[in-house]
Amino acid sequence: MTVASRIAIDGPAASGKSTIGKMVAECLGYLYFDTGVMYRAVTWASLERGIPISDEVAVTRLAQELHIDVTRPTVADRRQYTVLVDGVDVTWEIRRPEVDAAVSPVSAYPGVRAALTAQQRRIGAAGRVVMVGRDIGTVVMPDADLKVYLDAAVAERARRRYCEIIARGEPATYEDVLRGMEERDAIDSSRATAPLCAAPDAVVLDTTRLSIEGVVQVVMRLVNQAQEK
Ligand code: DC
Repeated sequence: MTVASRIAIDGPAASGKSTIGKMVAECLGYLYFDTGVMYRAVTWASLERGIPISDEVAVTRLAQELHIDVTRPTVADRRQYTVLVDGVDVTWEIRRPEVDAAVSPVSAYPGVRAALTAQQRRIGAAGRVVMVGRDIGTVVMPDADLKVYLDAAVAERARRRYCEIIARGEPATYEDVLRGMEERDAIDSSRATAPLCAAPDAVVLDTTRLSIEGVVQVVMRLVNQAQEK
C-alpha cells in the first residue's frame, strides 16, 4: 500500500482551501503549507519599500532576494502559522486590503512565479505535506498523490471573506469584497503563466452548500482511497 504523502488543494479565494487544508494536515500529522502567503509576502514587501507594483523587473528581483519563512504559530492570536519576511513577523500585514488589491498582478509575473515555485517544489519533495494554492496540482506538484480542487459560488466566497474581515474588527462592505474578489478571480484565471484551473486528474468539490466538517470528511475519504491504490 502506498501512502498518499503529497496532497494538493487548489481553488479560488475563500473556496475553503486554507481551513480544509489545515484540518486535513492536522488529521494526517502532515505539514500544512499555504503558498498564497509567499505571493502576499512579495506584494507586502514591494508596497513597504515603495516599489511600484507595475515595475515587473524590480518586483521580480525582490521575489528572488526576499527571505520568506513560514513557521508554526508563534503567537496565540488564531493565526494558522507565522510568516516572516527577512525576520519580520508579517502574518497579519499580508492580509491587509492593500495587499489583497495588488497580489494578483504580482502573482501573474512569470519571474515571481519561477522564484516562488522553486521554493514550493523543495518543500513538496520532502513529502508528508498538504500544499494549498492555485497551481499546486498543475505546476508545483503535478505528480501529487491526491489533487483536490475546491470551488464555490463567488457570492458565497465573498460572504465568507467579508465575515472574516469583520470578525478581525476591520472595516469593509460586502459589495467591495465581492467586486475585489471578482477582479482577482479574473486575473488569476486568465494569466498566461500557471492560471487558476483544476488539474485534469483533480477531484472537484463545490463547497457552496457544504459545511467545513463535511468537506474535511470527503477529502479524508479521498486520502484513504488514494492510500489503497
Ligand atoms: O490564496 P490567497 O488569497 O492567499 O492567494 C493570494 C494570491 O496569490 C492570489 O491572487 C493568487 C495568488 N496565488 C497564486 O497565483 N498561486 C498560488 N499557488 C497561490 C496563490
